[in-house]
Amino acid sequence: MKIKTKVIYYEKEKNPDTNYTTVIVDILRASSSITTLLSNGALWVKPVMSIEEAFNIKEKSPDVLLAGEKNALKIEGFDFGNSPTEFLNNDFKGKKIVLTTTNGTKAVLNHRDNFEVLIGCFLNINALIDYLKIRENILLVCSGSHGEFSLEDFLFCGRLIVNLTKNCNVESMDDASKLALKAAQLLGNELLPYAKESMHAKVLVSKGFEKDVDFCLKENVFSTIPILTDEGFKTLN
Ligand code: MLT
Repeated sequence: MKIKTKVIYYEKEKNPDTNYTTVIVDILRASSSITTLLSNGALWVKPVMSIEEAFNIKEKSPDVLLAGEKNALKIEGFDFGNSPTEFLNNDFKGKKIVLTTTNGTKAVLNHRDNFEVLIGCFLNINALIDYLKIRENILLVCSGSHGEFSLEDFLFCGRLIVNLTKNCNVESMDDASKLALKAAQLLGNELLPYAKESMHAKVLVSKGFEKDVDFCLKENVFSTIPILTDEGFKTLN
């Protein structure tokens, strides 16, 4: 197995790694939201680039629900924000969700042509590791924040890589993956509390979303693995 970690994702960058099984990581909060929605019964979650695109879809298909955020807050006219704890407390059985967020959904769409596109977060980490350990090439994409490094995404990659290296033969890792691995090893049990020190965690807490931050930093709440299909993300397992 080969592992690569994109520590910062730039919207306009080229994507040379199309043959990699790709894991999109946006711990706070898009990847945690998608995983929670599907675990809570949603039929699919379709990521879209813009608020306008979301409204256009709703006009043609009024049964879809719109979810997403701008500056972490719910978008006017949308049914939901981008809050995993809000998704946890509503029944989404059979519901079709259109989601747009500042960084996470864009990172997904920029990699949509890759071999397989999965969602990773602490909430589904062990299920994901079980799936990834038999894959060949793995690309971890940290969605970051407006092209800036995000501590929580990087630490998640580290924890994932620690477990992958225990479970399978890793032939090569790029430098970012090595650093993520080392950071996770050094932090050990302090990793999740340290992730709460991140810039975006602090922004979310200041906007009243501490419950989301705490929830997104829980491991193995779900065994759902979201995979991208033509309709949107569906559950793989
Ligand atoms: C994003 O995609 O940028 C995030 O998920 C933002 C958030 O909801 O906190």
